[in-house]
Amino acid sequence: MIRARGLVQTFHSGQGKQKKEVHAVRGVDLDVAEGEVVGFLGPNGAGKTTTLRMLTTLLKPTAGTASVAGFDVATQAVDVRRSIGYCSQVGSTFSGAYAGDEVVDHGMLYGMSKKAAVAKGQELFDKLQLDGLWRRMPKNMSGGQKRRLDIAMALIHSPGLVFLDEPTTGLDPQARINLWQHIADLRAKEGATVFLTTHYLDEADALADRIVIIDQGTIVASDTADNLKAAVAGDLVDLEVTTDEQVAIARDKLGSISAEVEVEGHHVRGRVARAGKAVPGLLRDLEGSGVGLESIEVVRPTLDDVFLTLTGRSLRDAEAAAEAKDAPADEAAATTEGAPA
Ligand SMILES: Nc1ncnc2c1ncn2[C@@H]1O[C@H](COP(=O)(O)OP(=O)(O)O)[C@@H](O)[C@H]1O
Ligand SMILES: [Mg+2]
Repeated sequence: MIRARGLVQTFHSGQGKQKKEVHAVRGVDLDVAEGEVVGFLGPNGAGKTTTLRMLTTLLKPTAGTASVAGFDVATQAVDVRRSIGYCSQVGSTFSGAYAGDEVVDHGMLYGMSKKAAVAKGQELFDKLQLDGLWRRMPKNMSGGQKRRLDIAMALIHSPGLVFLDEPTTGLDPQARINLWQHIADLRAKEGATVFLTTHYLDEADALADRIVIIDQGTIVASDTADNLKAAVAGDLVDLEVTTDEQVAIARDKLGSISAEVEVEGHHVRGRVARAGKAVPGLLRDLEGSGVGLESIEVVRPTLDDVFLTLTGRSLRDAEAAAEAKDAPADEAAATTEGAPA
């Protein structure tokens, strides 16, 4: 459904001496199969939106090629646009008509009959918990309601391929979960392919069949959440033994399946790939050596561990750094103001 090779986007900003190049996307390859839900994960400023805008024909790549839904983004932009749904990060601008009419007009723009657009629109209002808001103007809606309206607009023509840029940013937890369900249904019930960006680890984890991690304009990993966790970090196994003598034995045994073992008091810890498979053998081994465990804990790695291992920074740190770098002076001031003293 999506195939990109060497996508590059270089922005030029400023003038004269202030002139500078921003390498927003530095050679991205992507392959997304039909029916996949792919989470494009990365900190703010990583290049997610810029990549998406190139794939949806809103921005001409500086270099590289991409085909989307079978059409070339550079030479067949109209066909690409007709085949996809797109919900931008900032949302749509609304004309001042009723929400329902906006959605119906949008569907008719894609060639739907008014009747079909009304029916589909009502179904989407229902599913996206916008019921009762058909005759409300978007400017009188809450942020979360507007965000769900954006998504209804993107889905009105039942596209087979949907691009969602930070779909749940600004939604309250309940609305987020509801939207996750709706995105999962899109694939399950309508067979749609979904490409969504997010900087929420839990969102990528919950929704995506496959996660593509982008950092500073470059893709650093692409796999299922499970494989990423297993390959990059492994599960943390924490053994608690009862005596000092047992610490040495436990360190030895755990060391045979873990690259790095650390000891703290009677706790012996190490990361183990696919602990679910390895731990039963380890326990038998320990028992055979006369080691009685006080406790054992297996902690699955998070995507943040994965990000940390891949980039040397936690997603949250990367986020904070990007915000500090990117924020205009007044915005930075506003952020400081809002922070607790
Ligand atoms: N129109 C633009 N002109 C100059 N720089 C831009 C423009 N759009 C985005 N950038 C820069 O490109 C980088 C990637 O931005 P973006 O793709 O929006 O990241 P993300 O969506 O992952 O937060 C950032 O450093 C951002 O400031
Ligand atoms: Mg973005």
